[in-house]
Amino acid sequence: MPRRLLVTSALPYANGSIHFGHLVEYIQTDIWVRFQKMRGHEVHYVCADDTHGTAIMLRAEKEGITAEALIDRVWAEHKRDFDGFLVAFDNYYSTHADETRTLSEDIYRKLRDRGLIDVRSVEQFYDPVKSMFLPDRFIKGECPKCGAKDQYGDSCEVCGSTYSPTDLKNPYSVVSGATPVRKASDHYFFRLSHEDCQRFLKNWTQTGEHLQEEARNKIREWFDQGLNDWDISRDAPYFGFEIPDAPGKYFYVWLDAPIGYLGSFRNLANMRGLDFDAFAKPGSDTEMVHFIGKDILYFHALFWPAMLEFAGFRTPTQVFAHGFLTVNGEKMSKTRGTFITAGSYLTLGLDPEWLRYYYAAKLGPTMEDIDLNLDDFMARVNSDLVGKYVNIASRAAGFIAKRFEGKLAAGEESAAVRALRSRAETIAGHYDQREYAKALREIMAAADEVNQFVDQEKPWDLAKQPENAARLHWVCSQAVEAFRLLTLYLKPVLPAVAARVETFLGIAPLAWEHAAAALPEGHRIDAYRHLMTRIDPKQIEALLEANKESLRPTADAHSQQRHAQHQETVVTQEAPAATPAPAEPGKFVPAPIAPTITIDDFMKIDLRVARVVKAEHVEGAEKLIKLTLDIGSETRQVFAGIKAHYDPTKIEGRLVLMVANLQPRKMRFGESQGMILAASGEDTGVYLLDVDSGAEPGMRAK
Ligand code: MSP
Ligand code: ZN
Repeated sequence: MPRRLLVTSALPYANGSIHFGHLVEYIQTDIWVRFQKMRGHEVHYVCADDTHGTAIMLRAEKEGITAEALIDRVWAEHKRDFDGFLVAFDNYYSTHADETRTLSEDIYRKLRDRGLIDVRSVEQFYDPVKSMFLPDRFIKGECPKCGAKDQYGDSCEVCGSTYSPTDLKNPYSVVSGATPVRKASDHYFFRLSHEDCQRFLKNWTQTGEHLQEEARNKIREWFDQGLNDWDISRDAPYFGFEIPDAPGKYFYVWLDAPIGYLGSFRNLANMRGLDFDAFAKPGSDTEMVHFIGKDILYFHALFWPAMLEFAGFRTPTQVFAHGFLTVNGEKMSKTRGTFITAGSYLTLGLDPEWLRYYYAAKLGPTMEDIDLNLDDFMARVNSDLVGKYVNIASRAAGFIAKRFEGKLAAGEESAAVRALRSRAETIAGHYDQREYAKALREIMAAADEVNQFVDQEKPWDLAKQPENAARLHWVCSQAVEAFRLLTLYLKPVLPAVAARVETFLGIAPLAWEHAAAALPEGHRIDAYRHLMTRIDPKQIEALLEANKESLRPTADAHSQQRHAQHQETVVTQEAPAATPAPAEPGKFVPAPIAPTITIDDFMKIDLRVARVVKAEHVEGAEKLIKLTLDIGSETRQVFAGIKAHYDPTKIEGRLVLMVANLQPRKMRFGESQGMILAASGEDTGVYLLDVDSGAEPGMRAK
């Protein structure tokens, strides 16, 4: 029975590049979709950019462009990356589209008419200079535990402790630098705590096959903590959709994001002439399947089904959550160069199917994290794909072309080929259950058997014995048939290789049913064509190098870990929270020592003696002095935040220490090409580091 499937991957945020973590998901989904299509099912695979929210609004502002211009540019970049990794969406759309707007308004109105929307006053952090409410990610301050500066509102990157933004000492707005104040405003809530919602969700999540076992358990924990109502509105200024009958209030990005799945599908349905409404109604015969990362389970297993159910739509058939990617056993890191972008990999000319294969070899149906070990990556791809799989074709096809006019022989099927053919349904079962690692183990075990068959038959010896021409013909034809079957089984993972094989074997695009029958006697194949090269360790080195960034984690990297939160922190809905005690001014308390680093870590910082050639005030800058520094080999321009502590005329001519290999930073007043070193504590003065006389500009400090 052919199935109908609407399959989605989570919608990537439009304010960052696609990286290797994302690709776990898009490759996993794409393999499943390609497999289902090969089985003859009707599949619509849709996705889109997730375009709304404060972060995107502010980033566009910073770049001096409109949010629309920003999301268009990022859309094109994302599309290029997905195409590059052979992720074949049937539609790649945007949430900033009429289809999604209309559906969001419709769903909202239905929830409201059913009495599931509440309006309540909420007090939140507000930036009085920028006149906007601040999401947690835009509040920084000093860690309440260790005192480290510039830490985000929820956790400290220096000592690792977690807390809430109200605990931060000397909080400031990342947007304007102002001290945030608390301010009340009306917010719209989806009443998830309503007994109808609770009853529905308990039933939906705990019975049937909607979720994986682990996800069900996780959700039981959430039920035990109690389901809170969900704040679905944000105040202007905001980039998003305005809420009907609520001027100045916008749908929170996570309200319209999953609706973007339906928006993208509606757009596709219009193009393909499909009946969207029949699909969207309860009881639809189309399975709706969402692939997501475990960090966004709450949204997909609770908010989303409840929204759909109470707005009169069909609910998801299944939500598949996967784990997170680590590289060499650790969280991806910009300093180590393991925060690898899709774009860098493609630009360096690495083969996308290497990564597809490796991820598939690691993936199962659970929420367990998966590790990309770069040595293992090279070893596995080189030995499995090049050594075992491609090898079969290169060994056999040459003889067929040269000795037998490219024509295949008839004859009894060898045991190896028979065994290989009989694995078709087992392998299909593994793919269908998202047991890709098992599928590939099965396929590679079969490839081993085929290679043993070729080793035993020794075609290279047979080729020297004219009396054994028929045997040679049979052996090579068997090997070609085995290769065709292996290609078919690998096609969901290696679609481009499979396409090349289809051309060289002169066959129609492989579908699963083609496993049943061998190519007929006399079928003509072309000469063997190159299919895949080995990975060279130098390529991996280049990849890490290309992804290495300055030592400071950026807001972008940070935001990748933040969205596990379901809500922004609400300062208070009733009683005001206690004000954090201000630090006692003037009294210097040494901060704890930072975690140990190696000498190699330290040596990455190129410290140089520099002479201040010129020091000037900067028009319009409150804190900065512009320095012209001589570092022996060149002159650098550096903006230093020392205006409150130093008179520019007094520092001209003196020696200072500078970080000479810091990534240059574009500032409002020009580029800053390094950083000079100074000592300070909390609320203390700032003291430039001195260099003993005799030292010369350009000398390295270590
Ligand atoms: N915009 C939301 C999703 C909205 S869906 C209605 C979002 N975007 S994201 O860009 O941060 O992530 C997109 C998908 O990639 C998510 O499913 C997320 O779990 C996944 N991954 C992002 N980083 C990942 C890893 N490091 N490892 C594995 N998957 C990761 O969340
Ligand atoms: Zn800390």
